[in-house]
Amino acid sequence: MNGRDLVRSVRMVGSVGAAQGLRTVRAAWRRRRADATGLPSRKGERARVPGLVQDVEPGPGGGVIRFSRSELRITVTVSGAVFWGWDGAGPEPSYALSGRSPEPDPRAVLEPDKDGGWRVVAERVTVVVSRHGAVEVCTPGGVMLRRDLPPRWWEPDGGGGARWMQRSEVAADARFFGLGARASGPRLRDGTYRLWNTDPGGAFGPGDDPLYLTMPVQLVVADAATHLVFHDTSWDGRVTLREGEEGAGSGHDRAGTCELRMDGGPLRCWVMVGTPARVLLAWASLTGAPALPPAWALGHHHARWGFGTEQEVRRIVAGYQERGLPLDAVHLDIDHYDAHQVFTVDEERFPKLPVLADELRRHGIRLVSIVDPAVKALPGNAVYDGGTAEDAFVRDASGRLVRGVVWPGDAVYPDFTHARVRQWWGGLYAERLAQGFSGFWHDMNEPTSFVAFGESTLPRSARHALEGRGGDHREAHNVYALCMARAGYEGLRELMPEERPFVFSRSGWAGMQRYGGSWSGDVATGWPGLRASLSLVMGLGLCGVPYSGPDVGGFAGSPSPELYLRWFQLAAYLPLFRTHASIRAGRREPWEFGEEVLEHARVALLERRRLLPYFLTLAHLARRTGAPYVRPVWWGAPRDRALRDCEDAFLLGDCLLVAPILDPGADRRAVQLPRGWWYDTATGRAYEGPGRVLVDAPLSRIPVLARAGAVLPVRGADGGLELEVWAPAHGRAGRGLVVAEAGDGWDEPEIERYVARWEGTRVVVEREGEDGVYEPSHPVRVRGLAER
Ligand code: GLC
Repeated sequence: MNGRDLVRSVRMVGSVGAAQGLRTVRAAWRRRRADATGLPSRKGERARVPGLVQDVEPGPGGGVIRFSRSELRITVTVSGAVFWGWDGAGPEPSYALSGRSPEPDPRAVLEPDKDGGWRVVAERVTVVVSRHGAVEVCTPGGVMLRRDLPPRWWEPDGGGGARWMQRSEVAADARFFGLGARASGPRLRDGTYRLWNTDPGGAFGPGDDPLYLTMPVQLVVADAATHLVFHDTSWDGRVTLREGEEGAGSGHDRAGTCELRMDGGPLRCWVMVGTPARVLLAWASLTGAPALPPAWALGHHHARWGFGTEQEVRRIVAGYQERGLPLDAVHLDIDHYDAHQVFTVDEERFPKLPVLADELRRHGIRLVSIVDPAVKALPGNAVYDGGTAEDAFVRDASGRLVRGVVWPGDAVYPDFTHARVRQWWGGLYAERLAQGFSGFWHDMNEPTSFVAFGESTLPRSARHALEGRGGDHREAHNVYALCMARAGYEGLRELMPEERPFVFSRSGWAGMQRYGGSWSGDVATGWPGLRASLSLVMGLGLCGVPYSGPDVGGFAGSPSPELYLRWFQLAAYLPLFRTHASIRAGRREPWEFGEEVLEHARVALLERRRLLPYFLTLAHLARRTGAPYVRPVWWGAPRDRALRDCEDAFLLGDCLLVAPILDPGADRRAVQLPRGWWYDTATGRAYEGPGRVLVDAPLSRIPVLARAGAVLPVRGADGGLELEVWAPAHGRAGRGLVVAEAGDGWDEPEIERYVARWEGTRVVVEREGEDGVYEPSHPVRVRGLAER
């Protein structure tokens, strides 16, 4: 047991009680024993490199290049994405890809390069392969974006999967983002980041890594272009990043470097090159369009572990209603289960859940249920019995059920990497729907098992179906939650085909967005936790998962009124806007922090409600283009160095720039503006970018700036849709896209396109159609006219 383990196990026993504490000790021993015998040995590993180029075999979109000790397959696809795989690796099978891999681009050809190397030339990229097996990705103009040095493998004597290592270089000016949800970003500083989904076992802060949702996806932003690189292997790994240094014109630039060490899996990767928008579009077309949340999920959610009873839920809801505070969803945590068992209800404390759900729904409030994957290992528990009959639970190498410990005590784990198990599990949501739930909150799915020492997950030797290929937890661990999300999502599609499912999950992997979003997990209450919240949401968005948000106020402890309010104000502009806290934490209702906080929280809630049509538009655009709602300020100008290094503000779609307060005691802050005119939406004052301006941020609000020319859909006083138009700069036109609400079903509303332009001293707004321009379909309010 090391120091960290000890701290964790003390924490764990403290939080779960003595009987549970003893179970965690037994679970840890079981885990250790299983791995002592169930894993192949790595003795006598031999290192290998590709060797020298021998011959090539051109094929569609590129071809195969053979080296003396390996071969490299390169394919440029019609979407512009480049695939390459060593040692015979192809794009499939893959948990990340949404379907079959895209068609090869017939115009991309393999041709000889200098010094015995080869290259594939395509419209948007050139890939150059040296005779030793280094792979360079260049812009069509020949500027190098990334150079992957020849990889290295270590193969165990008796065969079996090889570990591998890949070193790469990027431009000296490049910045790294992504790798899933990281607390210390969004810009990933020099350091090592692990690729192994992990429950930190308590509230986390910016220094904790890895967390629940990792993925081998990097977005690399440089002057020459942005590129996304995805190493498609789910095994445990480590990424060591080091930013480069520019020699200020001296010609002595130092390249940025990335070293990836993986414990196994194919050495294959995808690279997409272009602007950030183009790269995310290519990524979404490869891994799937983000699921569109139902409209109500874009409102305000109130959650708490430990509501206790139906009466308590009613009391909280009444508290919102009496004070005129908008509320769209209430989440029930594990305490509404019968003895913490998934898909059950404590009939004593929640005797009439469907009645409560109905009542809430009549007031426009939905109920969301937590769903934990671990099933109490207890004959008589219907889920356990059903799963046993289906042979649904993970077994160890000798065929015994793997038992871990979670909230209900000793528990077993469905193997979601099996289609039959997903089908069975998806059917269980019928019980939840019958209880009146509308949405689902997947938790503890790294998967987590409380252990007194060692890793708080399943043994690495635990067996998984892996879609029939067979394998162990080393490969299945990181995709466990992704497959659980798939099970839930597909089950719900069958059970309530007329409504879009709402699923969000603590853990996940590349491709997660197809089924839903995420939330930031147990973020520590404190100003660093607030900052980490923004990092997690932004980083995940850049990996293609656009819908997420933090626990407002932090998970544990009690925030000061100021911290709570600043968190609330930030989250009002994040896709998932949810207050949540631990059973042992202080209250989180907006009225628990004094009159002043209540008034300002009300303003934030009402503004969120007013912006709902804009959020819905962003959700539709995310689904169609892969662009996250929350974007770094450099999104449209990745060459602007000051923007590239700005981490404390974000763009909400094209129209708004949100500058949250992340430090105590602040009543104004500096904001780094992209090019163009920006209006402070509170004062109407206009600022010209690019540049840095000081903006007021009294306790009553955080700075939100609107781009001159923005056309954004908002909810008018009568509840109907209105267009809020911010006057374009003189002589310029503004534009905006609007997707009007069409319910929670599958209708495909059309995208309305608007133009705003000056006509004399007036701003005229028109809707663009295929055959001309029309009067807008909604009332228009132009702002920012007088202010300039
Ligand atoms: C985990 C979740 C948290 C939840 C708790 C109890 O810690 O991250 O959100 O409240 O479990 O279910």
